[in-house]
Amino acid sequence: MTNNIIDGKQIARKVTEKVKKRVEDLKTLGITPGLAVVLVGNNAASQTYVNNKTKTCEKLGMYSVLIELDEQVSEEELLKQVELLNDDEKIHGILVQLPLPNQIDEDRVIAAISPLKDVDGFHPENVGKMMIGQPTFLPCTPFGILKLLEYSSVDIAGKHAVIIGRSNIVGKPMGQLLLKKDATVTYCHSKTKDLHVYTKQADILVVAIGRAKAIDASYIKAGAVVIDVGMNRDEYNKLCGDVDFTSAKEVASKITPVPGGVGPMTIAMLMENTCLAAENTCK
Ligand code: GUN
Repeated sequence: MTNNIIDGKQIARKVTEKVKKRVEDLKTLGITPGLAVVLVGNNAASQTYVNNKTKTCEKLGMYSVLIELDEQVSEEELLKQVELLNDDEKIHGILVQLPLPNQIDEDRVIAAISPLKDVDGFHPENVGKMMIGQPTFLPCTPFGILKLLEYSSVDIAGKHAVIIGRSNIVGKPMGQLLLKKDATVTYCHSKTKDLHVYTKQADILVVAIGRAKAIDASYIKAGAVVIDVGMNRDEYNKLCGDVDFTSAKEVASKITPVPGGVGPMTIAMLMENTCLAAENTCK
């Protein structure tokens, strides 16, 4: 199919333009939204992600700090750092890049972030509020996917959304957000038998498996909307998603590319959440 590619870069630009305006308004009140990003270790992919996050902050006139900690840092040290950021008035949003090294209990770190500064939307209090329909900060990747669907005029109500992946960062919250928009939601995961049976029924298919080109056209119903959350390297070391884009785009009515699909939206929604956190301090 032609002209069916969802341009995440362009939609992210539209979202960040709106954020930029809100940042300007906050500055007239003497508030500059501030984001702290904490990176532990030197995972190359994580370094790229966090650099993109702080660079985008600067482009939008926001304040940002990047705190880099050694791979061997203790949990206590990291928790101390989070406490300092919780108490820092210049910081409205805190993001600790995941995954963390094995010596650190991720859940403990997430729970230590002030729910008011939890711009990832990972704190149990914010997850709970999302579940009962009182959203605070929505997790950036699923929130970004919802925006992509909205900007691409995809109807969600009554549609069958199939999500492959059940992580706390993407899969689980994605299902909740689509459910809130009145989709019928099916979760698939690594133990799902006969994956085809489910994916072939999807009107909206969200793929977050973490395996290069795992889902090809044979898994996709004609006319489905396909959202690819993956970020992998193929056999030529080229960036690619979890979906085999070349075959899938022939059957999907709409599809996100990798790169240039979901990735830019995750960052855009982080900017929106940080701006919201700063606005909340005026209330
Ligand atoms: N690692 C991969 N995606 C994310 C994200 O959205 N937030 C954080 N903190 N870590 C991640």
